[in-house]
Amino acid sequence: MRIAILSSEAAPYSKTGGLGDVAGALPKALKKIGEDVCLITPFYRQTSPDLIKGVAIPQMTFKWRGEDVAARILYSDACGAPTFLVDHQSQFFRDSIYGYGEDYERFAFFSRAALVLLRSLGNPPDIVHLNDWHTGFAAAELNESRNFDHFFQKTKIIFSIHNMAYQGIFDPNELWKIGFGSEFARSSFALNGAASALKAGLIASDWLSTVSPRYAEEIQSSEYGFGLEWLVSRRKNRLLGITNGIDYEIWNPANDTLIPANYSLEDMTGKEICKKALLEKFSLPVNTDRPVIASISRLTAQKGIELIMQSVADLLSSGAYIIALGSGEKRYEDFWQSLRDYAPRQVGVFIGYNEELSHLIEAGADIFLMPSKFEPCGLNQMYSLRYGTIPVVRDVGGLHDTVEDWNPVELTGNGFKFQNYSGTAMIEKVYEAIYAWADTDSLNALRRNGMAIDNSWENSARKYCGLYQLAARG
Ligand code: ADP
Ligand code: GLC
Repeated sequence: MRIAILSSEAAPYSKTGGLGDVAGALPKALKKIGEDVCLITPFYRQTSPDLIKGVAIPQMTFKWRGEDVAARILYSDACGAPTFLVDHQSQFFRDSIYGYGEDYERFAFFSRAALVLLRSLGNPPDIVHLNDWHTGFAAAELNESRNFDHFFQKTKIIFSIHNMAYQGIFDPNELWKIGFGSEFARSSFALNGAASALKAGLIASDWLSTVSPRYAEEIQSSEYGFGLEWLVSRRKNRLLGITNGIDYEIWNPANDTLIPANYSLEDMTGKEICKKALLEKFSLPVNTDRPVIASISRLTAQKGIELIMQSVADLLSSGAYIIALGSGEKRYEDFWQSLRDYAPRQVGVFIGYNEELSHLIEAGADIFLMPSKFEPCGLNQMYSLRYGTIPVVRDVGGLHDTVEDWNPVELTGNGFKFQNYSGTAMIEKVYEAIYAWADTDSLNALRRNGMAIDNSWENSARKYCGLYQLAARG
């Protein structure tokens, strides 16, 4: 099958979170199992020019806001699959990837450019696989153009929801200016007096998927649907939950080049070396008899930092080291900084984005904390499992599906899950995890159970293939 995947970010070209990991890894996994797949993504200031192999189209012109514009299309295969990068100075060559008032316009532009590109490549795709609100524009345009444009007549649209909280909201008066003046388009985008690109994606696509089976259920409820639960439930017969995989070429302690020592289930000595290096990195006293509890995340309400704030005294009195890497909302950045200032010999904090450090933390930590309020899939808990680091997670979304509760009698399970969104519930599990970590038999079993799990992309890619086939059948 011929598949085109569109994403606003994709590693190694760009990444701000899990979407980047997923959009970079899925095309490679699909290619490996024999699909004819390409990835289309923007070329940002943050994209390393070293990844680019050449220019596919020097000047691709199309209509934008009533005028002719030109974008350059670059080519790469650095993610392991053919990639086309849309290069347009004013839209994408900026200080950050997201965060502008006109983001809706930037990604509407990207969506338009991607469809123009597919036309100029010839040979229409069977499947256009869209991701998150940034590509909802492409769903609306494709859906309409199938009615009169022979080229896309047989193309099916898949829309993957990575996060219902981001809805691409903008002023509906802008719609006609960016080419969505028709009645169908206007009603697809309309949401409570505003326009939402996510809603357009949910309505205009043939099939929907999201990144774990549990999240597929949750987003049909008001607690997790962010006001669009009615639409998701209406389309539930066209919705599938497919759990993300992880890329073992990048996240594998046995051959990770970003950590000071490699290790595997057979020989775990490298993990101790990584722990020492991690403590040194954060200028903490190197005492490996104390556990290291770590967190890596975007600092937003989604990630449950509130719970850490609520129970910080209990966390500190456990005696564990606490190490956090993240960036985002100022109130959370301030919290981490002040905690470090309060206990500089127990707490290590790095505010910012640092890929290399994230690998060292996964390898050097003993316990990984992910108390998310909601979590569509979550990747860090899967990285933790692979790195022999015990996940303590809230029992929600993809965390529910990927972490199995520890059973100290049977020695089964690979982590700790708590239900209620409360600091008390979280701290109880943190203490249980610390006790298990301190007991050699429990620790070995937890690590064995976690590290042996196969969360590779191949399984997930096969499920996507199944979905593509289902969609192609009509
Ligand atoms: P989300 O997509 O909601 O941010 P995921 O768990 O799916 O959550 O993916 C987060 C990805 O981003 C992981 O690869 C994680 O290591 C990475 N990440 C998040 N924050 C940082 C940071 N500050 N520095 C480095 N990597 C980070
Ligand atoms: C989103 C979600 C995260 C998921 C990622 C990749 O950013 O917040 O849970 O793992 O997308 O699908």
